[in-house]
Amino acid sequence: MENLGQVTGLNLIKKILRHINLLLFIGCFAIFLPIMQAYAAQADEAMVRVYPTVDYGRGAKSELIHRGEYLVRAGDCISCHTARNGKAFAGGVPFKTLFGIFYSHNITPDPETGIGRWTLEQFIKSMQQGIRPDGQPHFPVYPFMQFTHIYQQDLIAIKAYLDAVPKAYQRNRKNDVPWPFSWRFSQWFWCFLFFKSGEFKPDTKYSAKWNRGAYLVRGLGHCGMCHTPINLLGAPKHKYFMVGSDVSGMYAPDITGHRLKRYAIADIVNVFYKDYILGGDSARVVGPMYEVNHNSLRYLNRSDLESIAIYLQTISSQHPPTKKIIKSAGHGKSVYKNNGLAKTPMKTLIKTGKIAYERHCAVCHQSNGAGMPPVVRTLHGSPIVTGDILKHIELVLYGVKGTAMRAFCTQLSDEQLAAIINYQRHSWGNQDKKKYGQKAPGRVTSEQIKAVRDKHGNKHIR
Ligand code: HEC
Ligand code: HEC
Ligand code: HEC
Repeated sequence: MENLGQVTGLNLIKKILRHINLLLFIGCFAIFLPIMQAYAAQADEAMVRVYPTVDYGRGAKSELIHRGEYLVRAGDCISCHTARNGKAFAGGVPFKTLFGIFYSHNITPDPETGIGRWTLEQFIKSMQQGIRPDGQPHFPVYPFMQFTHIYQQDLIAIKAYLDAVPKAYQRNRKNDVPWPFSWRFSQWFWCFLFFKSGEFKPDTKYSAKWNRGAYLVRGLGHCGMCHTPINLLGAPKHKYFMVGSDVSGMYAPDITGHRLKRYAIADIVNVFYKDYILGGDSARVVGPMYEVNHNSLRYLNRSDLESIAIYLQTISSQHPPTKKIIKSAGHGKSVYKNNGLAKTPMKTLIKTGKIAYERHCAVCHQSNGAGMPPVVRTLHGSPIVTGDILKHIELVLYGVKGTAMRAFCTQLSDEQLAAIINYQRHSWGNQDKKKYGQKAPGRVTSEQIKAVRDKHGNKHIR
């Protein structure tokens, strides 16, 4: 249905170049791998921004600025361009990567430090082609790969709004990134391989609402930046469009039709308006998606959110095979040569499981697994942790209703969950039969987690 792998005459050359240069450029481009993690790292604290008061003027101008404001909200520009306690749109938001820190830019109309002197043409070129007024390419932490789909008439409105927001005198911070990763020139190559510019073209086979949804999701909404897995060079894998991806220890779940078809449009809209987790009766969206909802999607009208839901339900992407290299528990390094984790050394699983446990579970269960009795029972010899694997998986996937133990099904990937569960089963004496009367049975594979997920979906079953 949804085919994003466009065919162009350059494809063959690109394919060859990809292979030749993969190793050569891997060092240079590996920088983009952690981009998504960086995105989440700063979003982790889920910050709700306040939109500035704006002088809309009158008549046609006022209408244009209002339209621009709506679109800027749909694009969530404010999340990336407003620092904690900083002025709206003045930039300076850090994006931490393995190679250093990138900073977003000042996009207020200040003529000296912002984009006040940019012409409309320069602005459009930056958004649609990723090229700065000085001719240098942008770094793709700035989602120009998605923004390229925005219609020119919408960019005109966005520019009108940005021209109207209060000026902030704030110089752009230099990226703390060592050469060659700081080298903008290397971007040309990356763009050549992975970036295809071009406005959104409506598909007449579908309704106007579907097209509106596709336009918002693929373009302004840049949802794929978190929900689509990326390749070794940090570019999105089109064939796995929206099938879910790790975002710094969190999991941005599969939002293709494969999962969403079974839900009503109103349920999906409530994810955005009310922070509901699909199928979950008490769980709420947290982290990066909370921020997306509160800084962006909540401002959209119901019709647009329904359009988004309608479109998502029709995405039919290929799903990645389990035999792939996956990222460790949100820390960027590929540690498993995945085979459902059946052959990954237990030592590796325990090590990555521990990292993820510390991050997601230790707040309540404590690093030493002792919990906080009587509210959080100890995991030392816990009947769940030393008992039936399936029960353990179900409990962590779906939580315990009415307690602080939330469902982790949408927050963690199969691999992360498998690592954590293995870690719990191999720690704190849980393998000691003498001590607890039973020994936690063996190894948990990500295949097993997936099987439970496939059976019940990402919803509460308790
Ligand atoms: C995921 C984070 C993110 C989002 C969302 C985002 N930006 Fe940015 N933007 C950046 C970063 C980082 C840069 C700096 C890029 C570079 O150094 O090449 C940037 C640069 C820019 C620039 C170039 C400014 C300059 O001085 O070079 C413009 C214009 C811009 N963004 C506009 C927008 C608009 C408009 C939106 C919303 C529709 C938006 N951005 C959303 C991260 C983001
Ligand atoms: C900054 C990263 C990020 C961006 C951008 C993003 N998402 Fe999400 N999304 C997430 C994460 C992480 C979750 C899981 C939240 C949780 O488990 O609490 C999520 C959850 C969801 C869910 C709920 C799925 C479920 O199973 O309940 C939907 C639907 C969704 N996102 C749609 C979208 C759409 C549509 C867009 C674009 C308009 C978008 N997301 C943009 C990170 C992101
Ligand atoms: C916000 C607090 C909190 C967090 C975070 C948390 N848990 Fe829990 N967990 C609880 C509570 C409370 C219970 C006890 C529920 C009950 O009364 O049955 C529990 C119970 C459990 C049990 C069952 C123990 C037993 O013997 O009944 C397991 C296993 C478990 N959690 C695993 C995890 C894992 C794995 C994570 C991280 C991915 C995690 N928990 C994160 C609060 C939390």
